[in-house]
Amino acid sequence: MWICENLSVSPEGRLTFAGQDTVILAEKYGTPLMLLDETRIRQRCRVYLQTMREVFGADALPLYASKALCFKGLYRIMKEEGMGIDLVSSGELYTAVQAGYPLEFAYFHGNNKTDADIRYAMEEGIGYFICDNSDELDAVNAEAGRQKIRQKVLLRLTPGIDPHTHRAISTGKVDSKFGVAIETGQAKEFVRHALALPHVQLMGYHCHIGSQIFEYKPFTDAAEIMLRFLAQMKHDFGYEAGELNLGGGMGVRYIASQPQIDYAANIAGIGKIMKDLCAKLNVTMPRILMEPGRSIVADSGLTLYTVGGIKRIPGFKNYVSVDGGMSDNPRYALYQSDYTVVVADRPLAEADGRYTVAGRCCESGDLIQENVLLSSPRKGDRLAVFTTGAYNYSMSSNYNRIPRPPIVWIAEDGADTLAVRRESFEDMVKNEL
Ligand code: LLP
Repeated sequence: MWICENLSVSPEGRLTFAGQDTVILAEKYGTPLMLLDETRIRQRCRVYLQTMREVFGADALPLYASKALCFKGLYRIMKEEGMGIDLVSSGELYTAVQAGYPLEFAYFHGNNKTDADIRYAMEEGIGYFICDNSDELDAVNAEAGRQKIRQKVLLRLTPGIDPHTHRAISTGKVDSKFGVAIETGQAKEFVRHALALPHVQLMGYHCHIGSQIFEYKPFTDAAEIMLRFLAQMKHDFGYEAGELNLGGGMGVRYIASQPQIDYAANIAGIGKIMKDLCAKLNVTMPRILMEPGRSIVADSGLTLYTVGGIKRIPGFKNYVSVDGGMSDNPRYALYQSDYTVVVADRPLAEADGRYTVAGRCCESGDLIQENVLLSSPRKGDRLAVFTTGAYNYSMSSNYNRIPRPPIVWIAEDGADTLAVRRESFEDMVKNEL
């Protein structure tokens, strides 16, 4: 059950998270409630930063992928830790600006940045655009011309890798909606195009093959394809790219049967293969960037709910209903994602059966998890769902007009502080005339 070191049990037999009693926190802040382990987030940033610098050199930089979880307090931590950031919208960019994050370390992603996005980001002094396609490259060039600057760009390329993850979160295959494919020859034309534009400065290439990937080989395969492409462009155009962004995607353990990935060992392994290949191809190792999202925040998050009713349907199944659901965590509904769920009031008590944990939305598919072993859940118990730091709050909605939960930080000294307030009904109608 203890899939992560920040989970344990108090002397009273209740679940603790980052050393704090989850039942007391649920009483203090109400449920649904999202807790974040600040120490662990910082540790993960340091694993990426330190290892990447050791392996690739002092200029290597991990960019936190904001889409995993985005709010002002998190950007302040990224700034303090010296992390770069990956953004995919003007909304994320605005949040970073509000948090005082220095945008020179920000990389603007997305397969359809609008002209307004491009203008806004450039006005705010964004570091890089990661251009998805030629139309966008022209738009960036035009806006940079208007603003009389030379804008740094990376080109997003698809290396043609199948990373063996859920179809919806696989992005590096040739028919992906993201980027330009190497194997069709279009990537080469993309480079030719970028090199000819006066107001963009081509810094290098980017690829991202998918998310929640446990295998190691897809990453080294992708790195190899990208380096070979880099060498080919040096040969064809005399242009040797100085930067290579390898994207994010390393998996996180949600249930006991999944492995705990050693991120530092993975990065070191990728580095070794790349160094050998650079020597073989006679190219200089470019500056390396990575974009971890999930592996920075997922297991630093935990969600607490309160149990409402229990429904036993003899011969079929048992439901335990909670006061949140797909509105704060749509991942089971979308991807049948695995989660570990326990009764926070007595996580070690023996299970009496299997339960389907259902949310409160008017939707049969609004489930958090099925077939979960739980110890006699009853009304008023608190259920804890582990590993909810990534792609939960950031994908939450107001479906059925359910307010989003608050986020509470747990600091190293055990202090709990509100990072994001619970949404109010007033918040939900504030744009309505
Ligand atoms: N870079 C790019 C260009 C990406 O598209 C992504 C994730 C990342 C980095 C970060 O990947 P990570 O390290 O977090 O795996 N909503 C889905 C995940 C979608 C991921 C989209 N892109 C989920 O809940 O599983």
